[in-house]
Amino acid sequence: MSELKAYLREQQRTVDAALQQFLPRSSVRPSTVHRAMRHPVFAGGKRLRPILCLAAAEACGGTREDAIPPACAAELIHTYSLVHDDLPCMDNDDLRRGQPTTHVVFGENVAVLAGDGILTEAFAIIAQTPENKRYRTRDYVTELAFAADSRRLIGGQVMDLEGEGKDLTKAQLVRIHEAKTAALLTSSLRLGGMSANASPSRLQALTDFGRSLGLAFQVIDDILDVTQSTEKLGKTAGKDAEVSKATYPAILGLEKSKQEAHRLTRKALAALQAFGRRANRLDQIAHYLLDRDY
Ligand code: IPE
Ligand code: IPE
Ligand code: MG
Ligand code: MG
Ligand code: MG
Repeated sequence: MSELKAYLREQQRTVDAALQQFLPRSSVRPSTVHRAMRHPVFAGGKRLRPILCLAAAEACGGTREDAIPPACAAELIHTYSLVHDDLPCMDNDDLRRGQPTTHVVFGENVAVLAGDGILTEAFAIIAQTPENKRYRTRDYVTELAFAADSRRLIGGQVMDLEGEGKDLTKAQLVRIHEAKTAALLTSSLRLGGMSANASPSRLQALTDFGRSLGLAFQVIDDILDVTQSTEKLGKTAGKDAEVSKATYPAILGLEKSKQEAHRLTRKALAALQAFGRRANRLDQIAHYLLDRDY
Protein backbone atom coordinates (compact mmCIF):
# COMPACT_ATOMS: atom_id res chain seq x y z
CA MET A 1 0.00 0.00 0.00
CA SER A 2 1.34 3.46 -0.83
CA GLU A 3 2.22 5.80 2.02
CA LEU A 4 -0.69 8.09 1.06
CA LYS A 5 -3.20 5.23 1.08
CA ALA A 6 -1.99 4.20 4.54
CA TYR A 7 -2.38 7.82 5.71
CA LEU A 8 -5.91 8.06 4.27
CA ARG A 9 -6.85 4.77 5.92
CA GLU A 10 -5.50 5.96 9.26
CA GLN A 11 -7.40 9.28 9.03
CA GLN A 12 -10.59 7.41 8.10
CA ARG A 13 -10.20 5.21 11.19
CA THR A 14 -9.74 8.23 13.42
CA VAL A 15 -12.83 9.93 11.99
CA ASP A 16 -14.90 6.74 12.25
CA ALA A 17 -13.93 6.27 15.89
CA ALA A 18 -14.87 9.88 16.69
CA LEU A 19 -18.20 9.59 14.85
CA GLN A 20 -18.94 6.41 16.82
CA GLN A 21 -18.56 8.44 20.01
CA PHE A 22 -20.47 11.50 18.80
CA LEU A 23 -23.58 9.79 17.42
CA PRO A 24 -26.27 8.38 19.73
CA ARG A 25 -26.02 4.59 20.06
CA SER A 26 -28.47 2.46 18.09
CA SER A 27 -30.07 1.34 21.34
CA VAL A 28 -31.06 4.89 22.33
CA ARG A 29 -34.81 5.30 22.02
CA PRO A 30 -36.45 5.66 19.60
CA SER A 31 -33.94 3.21 18.21
CA THR A 32 -35.40 3.27 14.67
CA VAL A 33 -34.14 6.77 14.02
CA HIS A 34 -30.72 6.11 15.57
CA ARG A 35 -30.26 2.96 13.54
CA ALA A 36 -31.35 4.90 10.45
CA MET A 37 -28.85 7.69 11.22
CA ARG A 38 -25.99 5.26 11.74
CA HIS A 39 -26.75 3.27 8.60
CA PRO A 40 -25.50 5.85 6.04
CA VAL A 41 -22.81 7.29 8.32
CA PHE A 42 -21.07 3.93 8.75
CA ALA A 43 -21.75 2.52 5.29
CA GLY A 44 -18.17 3.24 4.16
CA GLY A 45 -17.73 6.73 2.70
CA LYS A 46 -14.33 8.03 1.62
CA ARG A 47 -14.38 10.60 4.48
CA LEU A 48 -12.89 13.13 2.14
CA ARG A 49 -14.27 16.24 3.83
CA PRO A 50 -13.01 15.32 7.32
CA ILE A 51 -9.65 14.27 5.86
CA LEU A 52 -9.34 17.67 4.16
CA CYS A 53 -10.27 19.35 7.45
CA LEU A 54 -7.54 17.46 9.31
CA ALA A 55 -4.97 18.08 6.58
CA ALA A 56 -5.78 21.82 6.54
CA ALA A 57 -5.28 21.95 10.31
CA GLU A 58 -1.92 20.26 9.82
CA ALA A 59 -0.99 22.76 7.10
CA CYS A 60 -1.72 25.57 9.57
CA GLY A 61 0.29 24.01 12.38
CA GLY A 62 -2.68 22.76 14.40
CA THR A 63 -3.49 19.41 16.03
CA ARG A 64 -5.67 16.58 14.87
CA GLU A 65 -7.47 16.59 18.19
CA ASP A 66 -8.71 20.18 17.80
CA ALA A 67 -9.83 19.54 14.22
CA ILE A 68 -11.84 16.40 14.98
CA PRO A 69 -15.16 18.09 15.88
CA PRO A 70 -15.34 20.20 12.69
CA ALA A 71 -14.10 17.24 10.64
CA CYS A 72 -16.95 15.06 11.93
CA ALA A 73 -19.49 17.86 11.60
CA ALA A 74 -18.58 18.36 7.92
CA GLU A 75 -18.90 14.63 7.27
CA LEU A 76 -22.34 14.61 8.87
CA ILE A 77 -23.58 17.55 6.78
CA HIS A 78 -22.34 15.68 3.71
CA THR A 79 -23.95 12.40 4.79
CA TYR A 80 -27.32 13.98 5.53
CA SER A 81 -27.21 15.65 2.11
CA LEU A 82 -26.64 12.22 0.52
CA VAL A 83 -29.57 10.65 2.43
CA HIS A 84 -31.86 13.36 1.08
CA ASP A 85 -30.18 13.42 -2.37
CA ASP A 86 -31.05 9.72 -2.79
CA LEU A 87 -34.74 10.08 -1.87
CA PRO A 88 -37.31 9.11 -4.52
CA CYS A 89 -38.36 12.78 -4.80
CA MET A 90 -34.73 13.78 -5.48
CA ASP A 91 -32.27 11.56 -7.41
CA ASN A 92 -34.18 8.36 -6.55
CA ASP A 93 -31.20 6.11 -5.86
CA ASP A 94 -31.37 2.78 -4.08
CA LEU A 95 -27.63 2.22 -3.64
CA ARG A 96 -25.18 4.39 -1.68
CA ARG A 97 -21.72 3.60 -0.37
CA GLY A 98 -22.29 0.04 -1.54
CA GLN A 99 -25.39 -0.37 0.65
CA PRO A 100 -29.12 -0.04 0.10
CA THR A 101 -30.05 3.62 0.69
CA THR A 102 -31.58 4.71 3.98
CA HIS A 103 -35.12 5.06 2.58
CA VAL A 104 -34.90 1.56 1.07
CA VAL A 105 -34.02 0.06 4.46
CA PHE A 106 -36.08 2.26 6.79
CA GLY A 107 -38.79 3.78 4.59
CA GLU A 108 -39.00 7.28 3.21
CA ASN A 109 -40.51 8.89 6.28
CA VAL A 110 -37.79 7.65 8.64
CA ALA A 111 -35.06 8.44 6.06
CA VAL A 112 -36.15 12.10 5.92
CA LEU A 113 -36.11 12.27 9.71
CA ALA A 114 -32.78 10.43 9.96
CA GLY A 115 -31.31 13.03 7.58
CA ASP A 116 -32.72 15.78 9.81
CA GLY A 117 -31.20 14.03 12.84
CA ILE A 118 -27.75 13.78 11.23
CA LEU A 119 -27.90 17.46 10.21
CA THR A 120 -28.80 18.50 13.74
CA GLU A 121 -26.00 16.42 15.31
CA ALA A 122 -23.53 18.19 13.02
CA PHE A 123 -24.30 21.50 14.71
CA ALA A 124 -24.14 20.00 18.20
CA ILE A 125 -20.69 18.61 17.35
CA ILE A 126 -19.23 21.70 15.67
CA ALA A 127 -20.07 23.65 18.84
CA GLN A 128 -17.55 21.44 20.68
CA THR A 129 -14.57 22.73 18.65
CA PRO A 130 -12.03 24.33 21.02
CA GLU A 131 -11.82 28.13 20.82
CA ASN A 132 -8.46 29.85 20.23
CA LYS A 133 -7.08 33.39 19.92
CA ARG A 134 -8.82 34.13 16.64
CA TYR A 135 -11.89 31.90 16.50
CA ARG A 136 -14.90 31.47 18.78
CA THR A 137 -17.65 28.85 18.79
CA ARG A 138 -19.93 31.21 16.86
CA ASP A 139 -17.31 31.48 14.09
CA TYR A 140 -17.25 27.69 13.62
CA VAL A 141 -21.04 27.41 13.70
CA THR A 142 -21.44 30.30 11.25
CA GLU A 143 -18.89 28.76 8.89
CA LEU A 144 -20.66 25.40 8.80
CA ALA A 145 -24.08 27.02 8.41
CA PHE A 146 -22.71 29.09 5.51
CA ALA A 147 -21.76 25.97 3.52
CA ALA A 148 -24.96 24.09 4.34
CA ASP A 149 -27.43 26.92 3.80
CA SER A 150 -30.00 27.65 1.08
CA ARG A 151 -27.55 29.67 -1.03
CA ARG A 152 -24.84 27.00 -1.00
CA LEU A 153 -25.53 23.26 -0.48
CA ILE A 154 -29.33 23.36 -0.43
CA GLY A 155 -29.50 26.03 -3.14
CA GLY A 156 -27.18 23.96 -5.31
CA GLN A 157 -29.40 20.93 -4.88
CA VAL A 158 -32.43 23.01 -5.92
CA MET A 159 -30.63 24.35 -9.01
CA ASP A 160 -29.49 20.79 -9.80
CA LEU A 161 -33.10 19.55 -9.77
CA GLU A 162 -34.31 22.53 -11.79
CA GLY A 163 -31.51 21.94 -14.30
CA GLU A 164 -32.71 18.44 -15.20
CA GLY A 165 -33.51 18.18 -18.90
CA LYS A 166 -32.36 21.75 -19.58
CA ASP A 167 -29.50 23.00 -21.73
CA LEU A 168 -27.48 24.97 -19.22
CA THR A 169 -24.47 27.10 -20.01
CA LYS A 170 -21.12 26.21 -18.49
CA ALA A 171 -21.38 29.26 -16.22
CA GLN A 172 -24.71 28.02 -14.85
CA LEU A 173 -23.25 24.58 -14.25
CA VAL A 174 -20.27 26.07 -12.41
CA ARG A 175 -22.72 27.88 -10.11
CA ILE A 176 -24.52 24.63 -9.32
CA HIS A 177 -21.32 22.72 -8.64
CA GLU A 178 -19.86 25.51 -6.54
CA ALA A 179 -22.98 25.62 -4.41
CA LYS A 180 -23.84 21.95 -4.01
CA THR A 181 -20.29 20.57 -3.64
CA ALA A 182 -17.42 23.07 -3.56
CA ALA A 183 -18.86 25.15 -0.70
CA LEU A 184 -18.78 22.28 1.82
CA LEU A 185 -15.34 21.16 0.72
CA THR A 186 -14.12 24.72 1.14
CA SER A 187 -15.66 25.07 4.60
CA SER A 188 -14.20 21.73 5.66
CA LEU A 189 -10.75 23.12 4.85
CA ARG A 190 -11.44 26.50 6.42
CA LEU A 191 -12.75 24.91 9.61
CA GLY A 192 -9.57 22.84 9.89
CA GLY A 193 -7.57 26.04 9.47
CA MET A 194 -9.72 27.89 12.00
CA SER A 195 -9.25 25.13 14.58
CA ALA A 196 -5.51 25.74 14.10
CA ASN A 197 -5.82 29.51 14.65
CA ALA A 198 -4.98 30.21 10.98
CA SER A 199 -4.31 33.82 9.92
CA PRO A 200 -6.81 35.48 7.54
CA SER A 201 -4.37 35.12 4.63
CA ARG A 202 -3.95 31.39 5.27
CA LEU A 203 -7.73 31.03 5.44
CA GLN A 204 -8.03 32.84 2.12
CA ALA A 205 -5.49 30.45 0.57
CA LEU A 206 -7.54 27.48 1.84
CA THR A 207 -10.66 29.09 0.38
CA ASP A 208 -9.03 29.44 -3.05
CA PHE A 209 -7.74 25.86 -2.87
CA GLY A 210 -11.17 24.55 -1.81
CA ARG A 211 -13.14 26.30 -4.52
CA SER A 212 -11.07 24.85 -7.35
CA LEU A 213 -10.63 21.46 -5.69
CA GLY A 214 -14.37 21.28 -4.97
CA LEU A 215 -15.25 22.10 -8.56
CA ALA A 216 -12.75 19.53 -9.81
CA PHE A 217 -14.26 17.02 -7.39
CA GLN A 218 -17.78 17.40 -8.80
CA VAL A 219 -16.51 17.37 -12.40
CA ILE A 220 -14.83 14.04 -11.62
CA ASP A 221 -17.99 12.77 -9.91
CA ASP A 222 -19.90 13.60 -13.12
CA ILE A 223 -17.25 11.84 -15.24
CA LEU A 224 -17.24 8.71 -13.06
CA ASP A 225 -21.03 8.47 -13.37
CA VAL A 226 -20.44 7.94 -17.10
CA THR A 227 -17.25 5.88 -17.08
CA GLN A 228 -17.44 3.59 -14.03
CA SER A 229 -19.53 0.62 -12.99
CA THR A 230 -22.12 0.54 -10.21
CA GLU A 231 -19.98 -2.01 -8.34
CA LYS A 232 -16.93 0.24 -8.40
CA LEU A 233 -18.84 3.38 -7.41
CA GLY A 234 -21.03 1.83 -4.73
CA LYS A 235 -23.84 3.94 -6.21
CA THR A 236 -25.86 3.53 -9.40
CA ALA A 237 -23.76 4.41 -12.45
CA GLY A 238 -25.28 6.12 -15.48
CA LYS A 239 -27.94 7.88 -13.41
CA ASP A 240 -27.18 11.38 -14.61
CA ALA A 241 -27.75 10.69 -18.30
CA GLU A 242 -30.91 8.71 -17.50
CA VAL A 243 -32.61 11.81 -16.10
CA SER A 244 -30.73 14.31 -18.30
CA LYS A 245 -28.89 15.97 -15.43
CA ALA A 246 -26.87 19.03 -16.25
CA THR A 247 -23.33 17.66 -15.86
CA TYR A 248 -19.87 18.44 -17.25
CA PRO A 249 -19.81 15.46 -19.63
CA ALA A 250 -23.29 16.38 -20.87
CA ILE A 251 -22.28 19.96 -21.61
CA LEU A 252 -18.59 19.68 -22.56
CA GLY A 253 -18.15 16.00 -23.48
CA LEU A 254 -15.86 13.55 -21.65
CA GLU A 255 -12.48 14.69 -22.99
CA LYS A 256 -13.03 18.38 -22.28
CA SER A 257 -14.41 17.50 -18.85
CA LYS A 258 -11.23 15.59 -18.02
CA GLN A 259 -9.14 18.54 -19.19
CA GLU A 260 -11.25 20.81 -17.02
CA ALA A 261 -10.67 18.59 -13.97
CA HIS A 262 -6.92 18.79 -14.60
CA ARG A 263 -7.02 22.56 -15.07
CA LEU A 264 -9.01 23.07 -11.87
CA THR A 265 -6.67 20.81 -9.90
CA ARG A 266 -3.64 22.77 -11.14
CA LYS A 267 -5.39 25.97 -10.11
CA ALA A 268 -6.12 24.49 -6.67
CA LEU A 269 -2.49 23.45 -6.19
CA ALA A 270 -1.26 26.95 -7.03
CA ALA A 271 -3.20 28.26 -4.02
CA LEU A 272 -1.09 26.10 -1.70
CA GLN A 273 2.21 27.87 -2.46
CA ALA A 274 2.11 30.00 0.68
CA PHE A 275 2.11 26.96 2.99
CA GLY A 276 5.37 25.42 1.80
CA ARG A 277 5.99 21.81 2.84
CA ARG A 278 3.27 21.82 5.48
CA ALA A 279 0.73 21.53 2.68
CA ASN A 280 2.27 18.33 1.27
CA ARG A 281 -0.73 16.28 2.36
CA LEU A 282 -3.23 18.66 0.77
CA ASP A 283 -1.14 18.55 -2.39
CA GLN A 284 -1.08 14.73 -2.40
CA ILE A 285 -4.83 14.51 -1.71
CA ALA A 286 -5.59 16.84 -4.64
CA HIS A 287 -3.57 14.59 -6.98
CA TYR A 288 -5.20 11.50 -5.53
CA LEU A 289 -8.71 12.89 -6.09
CA LEU A 290 -7.94 13.71 -9.71
CA ASP A 291 -6.89 10.11 -10.36
CA ARG A 292 -9.59 8.44 -8.28
CA ASP A 293 -11.81 5.83 -9.89
CA TYR A 294 -14.66 5.91 -7.32
C1 IPE B 1 -20.49 12.23 -3.45
O1 IPE B 1 -19.47 12.56 -2.56
C2 IPE B 1 -21.40 13.39 -3.64
C3 IPE B 1 -20.78 14.57 -4.20
C4 IPE B 1 -20.83 15.72 -3.62
C5 IPE B 1 -20.08 14.51 -5.47
P1 IPE B 1 -18.31 11.53 -2.22
O2 IPE B 1 -17.76 10.95 -3.48
O3 IPE B 1 -17.34 12.20 -1.31
O4 IPE B 1 -19.09 10.38 -1.46
P2 IPE B 1 -18.68 9.44 -0.24
O5 IPE B 1 -18.64 10.33 0.98
O6 IPE B 1 -17.34 8.83 -0.51
O7 IPE B 1 -19.76 8.42 -0.16
C1 IPE C 1 -24.68 15.42 -4.88
O1 IPE C 1 -24.43 15.44 -6.22
C2 IPE C 1 -24.29 16.66 -4.23
C3 IPE C 1 -24.84 16.73 -2.85
C4 IPE C 1 -24.83 17.85 -2.23
C5 IPE C 1 -25.38 15.55 -2.18
P1 IPE C 1 -24.79 14.08 -6.97
O2 IPE C 1 -26.26 13.84 -6.96
O3 IPE C 1 -24.06 14.07 -8.25
O4 IPE C 1 -24.11 13.01 -5.98
P2 IPE C 1 -24.16 11.45 -6.22
O5 IPE C 1 -23.56 11.21 -7.60
O6 IPE C 1 -25.57 11.01 -6.08
O7 IPE C 1 -23.24 10.93 -5.14
MG1 MG D 1 -28.00 14.97 -6.85
MG1 MG E 1 -27.30 11.91 -6.57
MG1 MG F 1 -23.07 12.39 -9.10
